[in-house]
Amino acid sequence: MTSPHPGYFISFEGIDGAGKSTHIDAFCKLMQERYPNKEVVITREPGGTPLGEQLRNLLLNTPMNLETEALLMFAARQEHITQVIEPALQAGKIVVSDRFTDASFAYQGGGRGLSVAKLNDLEQWIQARPDGTLLQPNLTILFDLPGKVAEERRSKVRAPDKFEKMNLDFFEKVRQEYLRRAHENPKRFHIVDATKTPEDIWNGLQTLQIQL
Ligand code: TYD
Repeated sequence: MTSPHPGYFISFEGIDGAGKSTHIDAFCKLMQERYPNKEVVITREPGGTPLGEQLRNLLLNTPMNLETEALLMFAARQEHITQVIEPALQAGKIVVSDRFTDASFAYQGGGRGLSVAKLNDLEQWIQARPDGTLLQPNLTILFDLPGKVAEERRSKVRAPDKFEKMNLDFFEKVRQEYLRRAHENPKRFHIVDATKTPEDIWNGLQTLQIQL
């Protein structure tokens, strides 16, 4: 299928503590060096717009009903798509987002138990294009590792936000949902073994082939 836009959309995903934040800036720099004629836009979810960042603050710090949480994630995403992602892709830019819709399936779905049917509806609602196709990343880089290892890493580096306070069982379920989606969409996903050292992970990312 040909891409409906001249840009390229990459998302970074993984459970908290998997190490995606360690690599995302260097990865964007690498993209910029490799494709000097394309502008690279780095952004994140929830967030990426002024309203989205306000919603992020609520989402990461306020306990709330599961459906409210999912609706707010997608509300922030709607702003993000309309204001940032679509215009950048239409202008031929490379968009790199620290999380996108797979995170809602993994956290609100796998982790907290919202039905896949409801998540599919929300995804259709905000990501369907007039031609019926869905706006999706061209490439999703999934940092995968056991929940226990991620928990140990997190405890060393930062005070936990609302999601990071969840228990091991939650993160194992989040991980499994990420993996389920990766196996369902093998062409879109690239799975990184995040138990490796940062050097090995970086070497692997540098050899990743991107079809621009
Ligand atoms: P994260 O991306 O890990 O940022 P930081 O590195 O600053 O902690 O934090 C975002 C949190 O939001 C993370 O715990 C996952 C959660 N999240 C969802 O639960 N659903 C979503 O749809 C998105 C985008 C994020």
